[in-house]
Amino acid sequence: MVKIMQVGYGYWGDNVAKKLWASDCFELVCLADADSKKCKYAERDYPSIVVTDNYKECLNNVDAVAICTQTQYSYDIAMEAMKVGKHIFIEKPLARTVKEAEELCEEATKQNIILHCDHLMVYNHVIRYIKDMIDKDELGEIMYIDISRVNLGPIRRDINAMLDLAVHDIAVADYILGGLEPDRINAYGTKFFGDQETITYLNMKMGETLININSSWISPVKIRRSIIAGTKKMVIFDDVASDKLTIYDSGIDVMRGKVYGEYEFKTRIGDIYIPRLEFEDALKNSLEAFADSVVTGKQSLSGPEPSLRVMKILEKAQKLLK
Ligand SMILES: NC(=O)c1ccc[n+]([C@@H]2O[C@H](COP(=O)([O-])OP(=O)(O)OC[C@H]3O[C@@H](n4cnc5c(N)ncnc54)[C@H](O)[C@@H]3O)[C@@H](O)[C@H]2O)c1
Repeated sequence: MVKIMQVGYGYWGDNVAKKLWASDCFELVCLADADSKKCKYAERDYPSIVVTDNYKECLNNVDAVAICTQTQYSYDIAMEAMKVGKHIFIEKPLARTVKEAEELCEEATKQNIILHCDHLMVYNHVIRYIKDMIDKDELGEIMYIDISRVNLGPIRRDINAMLDLAVHDIAVADYILGGLEPDRINAYGTKFFGDQETITYLNMKMGETLININSSWISPVKIRRSIIAGTKKMVIFDDVASDKLTIYDSGIDVMRGKVYGEYEFKTRIGDIYIPRLEFEDALKNSLEAFADSVVTGKQSLSGPEPSLRVMKILEKAQKLLK
């Protein structure tokens, strides 16, 4: 069991604490939040553990720290905890800048520490199923990935919609395409409310695959949909539907003509298949992957290298937005 403390007990921290508490892999020994109101909630929800407004008080009593503060505070907390040898589970995005992310990764390497960024879609069972199909060449060459992650709010003040939402989709693209660096990146966004872009479009080319990521806090409806189109088959992952994955045996067949060198294109509309997938909790999977890394000493699928690649894409895209 990994003895862990959690820093930050806000909206998302509440979910993380529940999973840590329920998991056989962790002993949650302390909850810290700088806000006394949040401390009161933590005391009410977890009366048997230490609750503090100063996370430093508890650092010596744990093996690991789960950081669920706003991104602007997570770098300092992670650095402080790593300096005293604690393994880090850190909420996405890994940091505000590539420079900060590089420093975190360097410190983790120097101290032999597990640094796991909560890119939880990488631990989603549907994404894992799709990745398995790609690895078995069931989809063929991936032509494009088109992702919409949009909803009405919540509008964040410290980061924009891209840092908040596209981070998941970049991590997924990085994972399923095997860590390719993009050749091209383009990004647009607009600020309708406050200082941060409330809607962004990010386009990339990774190898021959075109990627389009739409992130928004100003959509009338919640959409979590990814189309991953291969030359053999295409899939749609709809994370808000009951049938999350639909596989289409559809595409374009190239038919040879009667004369040498002649060919024509024929659309193929084949079977549609909905695999039965047992539900898995991605956050639980992410936390357990972190625990496994702490035990084995092997960095996870969202360890320093992939997380840094994601940050580099995000930072380039951020510059283009400006
Ligand atoms: N993985 C996901 O799918 C997912 C989903 C939502 C949010 N998040 C991430 O979770 C993080 C938190 O988001 P949120 O919506 O819960 O924010 P929030 O503002 O609701 O909560 C953050 C909490 O951290 C506390 N905090 C800040 N500095 C602190 C410090 N130095 N010591 C102790 N506590 C401190 C604040 O008081 C607050 O209670 C963000 O990084 C966000 O990107 C991840």
